[in-house]
Amino acid sequence: MSVEALDSSLDRVRTGLERRVAALGARVGDHLAGYVGQPGKLLRTRYTLLLGRALGVDSIQAESVARAVELVHNASLLHDDCIDEGLLRRGVPTPNALFGDRTGILVGDLAFTQGMAEAALVSSEAVRSLVAAVQEMTIGELQEEFLKGSLNVSVEGYYGVAARKTSALFEWAGRVLSDESPLDHRREDPPRLGVAAGVLLQIVDDIHDFTLAEAVAGKPPGQDLHNGRLTLPGIIAMDDDASRERWIGLWGERSSGRLDQALALFKEGGHLDTARGEARRIMTAMLPWAEALPQREAAAELCGFMTALFNREF
Ligand code: FPP
Ligand code: MG
Repeated sequence: MSVEALDSSLDRVRTGLERRVAALGARVGDHLAGYVGQPGKLLRTRYTLLLGRALGVDSIQAESVARAVELVHNASLLHDDCIDEGLLRRGVPTPNALFGDRTGILVGDLAFTQGMAEAALVSSEAVRSLVAAVQEMTIGELQEEFLKGSLNVSVEGYYGVAARKTSALFEWAGRVLSDESPLDHRREDPPRLGVAAGVLLQIVDDIHDFTLAEAVAGKPPGQDLHNGRLTLPGIIAMDDDASRERWIGLWGERSSGRLDQALALFKEGGHLDTARGEARRIMTAMLPWAEALPQREAAAELCGFMTALFNREF
């Protein structure tokens, strides 16, 4: 896909989101409606547009799939910030921080309905499968809720949660784009690419929760530690005889300096590098599926995007 083609598709995705926000703003006020279509890094949109192109999908359809993904993603973050007590997202205070959880939940519901309406523009099958995807996301978030506080989380358990709460939307985009594709391709590849992309994104996000400054991430570091959510670097530390005791001590502590101490411990033990190695392993496994997609030029760009997703420091 040429840079101009991707840029104009991205612009149309943004304009479509703004249109939905403007219509809602007339009902609930621009400030609240803004959260529904608030663009973040648009990683999911870029992924969806590139995948759509690699599958030869009509760009109008692919853009609707991308908007549905962004809207449902926003819905899930609005709810997640109520659950995780997230007060800052994308550099701005969350609605739950400003107006309380009840408002955060309801604005999330608005985003959810807008996402469903956008999926309905694609096909009735897209709506049916999006309902199933959101159910998976919710089950993933519930599983995570039950694991909170526990140091007894396996790598498989962590991947299981990530595959539901984060990958389900990517997987959905893959399935719908595969259905919409007029070109011959292996039907299992687009959805399984989505599963891998979501887990990859989640591992990187969880590493960033320890390493990225608020000014870069747009959200404060240390939220997972604060919420008692054991992520991959911590699971790896639990598995390491040299780190386990110190990590258990830090986990139970409430001191303000424990994020820095955890970071120092993870660096010393090489646990962030091990977690990044896991992400690299997942990326290496998925690239051949992307490379085999029928439109070779766009497929190569998708591979470049995956690599950027892995290397990102924002
Ligand atoms: C962020 O995770 C949250 C998710 C990836 C999914 C949350 C899913 C739900 C709330 C269920 C689905 C609900 C609807 C309405 C679609 P994180 O806490 O690891 O990321 P963060 O650090 O950015 O908060
Ligand atoms: Mg969260």
